[in-house]
Amino acid sequence: MVRTSALPASSTHDNNALIAVLGAGAIGQLMYHKLSVNTQEAQVNEVILIGRDKQTRHQQLRFIDHTQHTHEALATILGTDDNRLARVELLFVCVKAYQVEQALLPLLPKLSPQCHIVLLHNGLGPHLPVAAALMRYKDMGLTLGTTSQAALKLSPWQVKYSGLGVTQLGHYCGSVMSAALKTCLTRLHSDNQPIEWHQPVLPVLWQKLAINAVINPLTALNQCANGQLAATEYQSQISAIIDELVEVAKYDGIILDKAAVKARVYQVIELTSANFSSMYQDVAHSRPTEINEINGYICQQAKALHLNVPNNQYLVDKVLQLSKS
Ligand SMILES: NC(=O)c1ccc[n+]([C@@H]2O[C@H](COP(=O)([O-])OP(=O)(O)OC[C@H]3O[C@@H](n4cnc5c(N)ncnc54)[C@H](OP(=O)(O)O)[C@@H]3O)[C@@H](O)[C@H]2O)c1
Repeated sequence: MVRTSALPASSTHDNNALIAVLGAGAIGQLMYHKLSVNTQEAQVNEVILIGRDKQTRHQQLRFIDHTQHTHEALATILGTDDNRLARVELLFVCVKAYQVEQALLPLLPKLSPQCHIVLLHNGLGPHLPVAAALMRYKDMGLTLGTTSQAALKLSPWQVKYSGLGVTQLGHYCGSVMSAALKTCLTRLHSDNQPIEWHQPVLPVLWQKLAINAVINPLTALNQCANGQLAATEYQSQISAIIDELVEVAKYDGIILDKAAVKARVYQVIELTSANFSSMYQDVAHSRPTEINEINGYICQQAKALHLNVPNNQYLVDKVLQLSKS
């Protein structure tokens, strides 16, 4: 067993900026462990989690890495009333897409005025109210991202690294991320999982949206593993979902190559053929899904542009019905 970090209650590095992860779920704990690597070394920022509670507390975490090594960490879970929030200079938001606004907006006035925020959820949409709220904080900045890494919560405080992959990030609005903070992010790929920077970032996020807009609802509705979507019976539906998405993206100023998007969707179906998507699992466990931020975002943008997207609307309606039943 390896101890990755142990942050004492009263730290001796009080003047140092903090790196925080909002949302102590599967991806949040994965990011915490990856960012915490080497925290014992001098000159390295402390990493903390931010939870739902007002009071700060400490929590023993367990992380099983991709080589099956188990790491223990005593994490600080900063309370939302803790004035150390004012030292948070880099904030990773790792809640579900539908939780972003409620979790993040009340924290904005409490963070460092120069805080840089990174949204790392699946789907699109929450960046719009966040960007609008940030207009009042002129020195803050917003980076959007997506990760293909995967993490599985074995119990509330035990997370297993279940899939390697790339993390794609790009500036969206406000102040750009400082070189010093970008250096901190090198810790995210200390195990050789690449970080890619993209400018502009939205085309990358629309590309990822296409993957999620196909795989998530179709596996949830057909109760199947990802690989089953390679069957010919799904071909025309998959084409229709992508055609609509590419059209909406175009009117939204994002030019996507339809053939390349389709090829990538089928590649991911093949690469993850044995996996059960997060929406499949959310529906199976009667949890809320991210359908409104995936196919729902396509429908919302289409409505504003007076475009019809019946195939995506059908999926939204069906998944919402399924989650209610
Ligand atoms: N898991 C993966 O492998 C994976 C891979 C790629 C992308 N993603 C994406 O990453 C995002 C997070 O997914 P996840 O699997 O990590 O979800 P998750 O395990 O449900 O984690 C979300 C965490 O955020 C917490 N939270 C919710 N509202 C909060 C608030 N107001 N204040 C503080 N904490 C709050 C939740 O606490 P409660 O438990 O108390 O609600 C939970 O601990 C999703 O968009 C997902 O699609 C996940």
